[in-house]
Amino acid sequence: MADLLPSLLAADFANLYDEIMKVQEANYLHFDIMDGRYVPNISFGADIIRALRPYSRQVFDTHLMIIEPERYIELFAEAGADVITFHYEATTHPHRVVHQVKEAGCKVGIALNPSTPLDVLEYLLEDLDQVLIMTVNPGFGGQKFIPAMVKKIRKLRKIIDERKLDTLIQIDGGVNLENLPELHALGVDLFVIGSAVFGAEDPGEVVRKAKEILKNA
Ligand code: DX5
Ligand code: ZN
Repeated sequence: MADLLPSLLAADFANLYDEIMKVQEANYLHFDIMDGRYVPNISFGADIIRALRPYSRQVFDTHLMIIEPERYIELFAEAGADVITFHYEATTHPHRVVHQVKEAGCKVGIALNPSTPLDVLEYLLEDLDQVLIMTVNPGFGGQKFIPAMVKKIRKLRKIIDERKLDTLIQIDGGVNLENLPELHALGVDLFVIGSAVFGAEDPGEVVRKAKEILKNA
């Protein structure tokens, strides 16, 4: 069944413990790590994951938006990440990094920016647990879903099905309760939702509604 991942980027950083308690009904938590070089913004580092790890049994899904992710894989694994996704565009040796993540004991994903074609996954797909299709340009929450990404999602769904893989499709950026049903119909498995969850009056209620949509659709 498809699932949602509340993104902490949109949470109140002064109250992170309280914020994650509000979304415990979600099976996952999504951590956006930004270095100020790969993306214009700086968010937080592995210490936040380490600090929150004892308080949650959720799957900690870590999205590294950092140059040369190979320098930090073990750090994030040791801090408590369960899944590590890095950007194809951020390293010279994506294949090597995929295996570095696995050796560190984590599930592995590759993220693709909106302008990066799916072709780059030709020789990588079989090794991946998930593919993250960025549906906004990475760096900031609260942006609008880029409609051209619908075609990319459809194409990836087809490739994964044709190759009979169980690789999950994750999307990130501009997802909300309004567009969730139509995006789910495309065959997406994992939906990162930031501002639509933590910007809401009652984040727990948004999580429940999203789960309901993903169950029914
Ligand atoms: C953007 C991040 C996203 C972000 C999504 O670079 O990767 O995870 O938090 O935020 P929303 O859901 O507000 O578009
Ligand atoms: Zn993200």
